Amino acid sequence: MDTQIFTLDPDAPDPAIITRAAAVLRDGGLVAFPTETVYGLGANAMDAAALRRIYAAKQRPASDPIIAHIWQLRQLDQLASEVPDIARELADTFWPGALTLVLPRAAGVPEAIAQGMQTVAVRMPGHPIAQALLKAADTPIGAPSANTFTRPSATSAAHVLEDLGGRIDMILDGGPTRIGLESTVLDLSGDVPTVLRPGGVLFDDLRRVIPTLTLAPKYLDEDTDSTAPGQLLKHYSPRAQVLLFTGATTRRRHDAMAAQASALIESGKQVAALVFDEDQAAFPAQTIHVPLGSAGDLAAVGRRLFAAMRELDLAGADVILVADFGQEGLGGALWDRLLRAAEGRIIDVA
Ligand code: TXA
Ligand code: MG
Repeated sequence: MDTQIFTLDPDAPDPAIITRAAAVLRDGGLVAFPTETVYGLGANAMDAAALRRIYAAKQRPASDPIIAHIWQLRQLDQLASEVPDIARELADTFWPGALTLVLPRAAGVPEAIAQGMQTVAVRMPGHPIAQALLKAADTPIGAPSANTFTRPSATSAAHVLEDLGGRIDMILDGGPTRIGLESTVLDLSGDVPTVLRPGGVLFDDLRRVIPTLTLAPKYLDEDTDSTAPGQLLKHYSPRAQVLLFTGATTRRRHDAMAAQASALIESGKQVAALVFDEDQAAFPAQTIHVPLGSAGDLAAVGRRLFAAMRELDLAGADVILVADFGQEGLGGALWDRLLRAAEGRIIDVA
């Protein structure tokens, strides 16, 4: 299959191209498009065959549920059988934005969107290209992140092409995404609202609306259907092995990382360190680096993290050393992605 790529102004997408992309979606095809978090791989959410094409293109098991995207609140009632007041309040506060709400699923929404579950995840993205596409398609669009199974999410059209070129109909290139980490997934289908995945909307901001909110990210392997307790999800992973350093002080962590880098280089490994730009000097000269932003700028790290992992793969890194960015602000979402990328390989610096 030939994958068509169109470059669009992210703030004022060409309506003629949006119309073409919407027609592809309505015909059951696959279109990758930018949202403010990451690129999504879209298909008509009301068309089971189209949803199955997503799983095939991503090489992802059909048991992994897909987020339905909408552009106006009216569509929420088409997707969810029950919309509690708290969902409306959250939607009022955070939509359009980086928040996904899990709700009981309405009849008429294909089972393929969340195989084996009675729920549906819904998000209203704010990116002008996503909004225009959703409006033109005139149907909710199911879209997981536009990467192949277990690869880091795509934050640029080049990443989408790298993973999915030749397997999807169209890519809308709106440049790099603004947040770079996926949406926060909040489950409202049970008795207690629970954050399943920390993301672009901060936990503390959600707590202002739901003071009792709890965080219960799943580290079970949702993608491979594994139920082995404690098994970490292989997800958001570069090809290189990731070692995640935590504990002690920033200084001590960097010392431990630099020592580890020297030892690994000595043993013939290509070693990369994913650290703030000004910290790169503390590592042996042979260490591979890519820009990650300045100290303390977690928004820049969020924007760059997945792209940086892909760049380090291309640079031939065998091992990537990375330190915990703390739990403040976006730190929680970064920790979640790093933990998954590291598949549990944590080094606690005493
Ligand atoms: O920012 C994002 O959320 C991006 C953009 C494209 O919207 N999408 C995204 O989709 O990251 P995906 O498929 O890569 O991740 C969706 C997450 C998965 O962890 C999935 O298990 C969870 O949302 N999810 C989807 N539907 C669910 C449901 N019905 N119940 C519980 N979790 C669900
Ligand atoms: Mg994903």
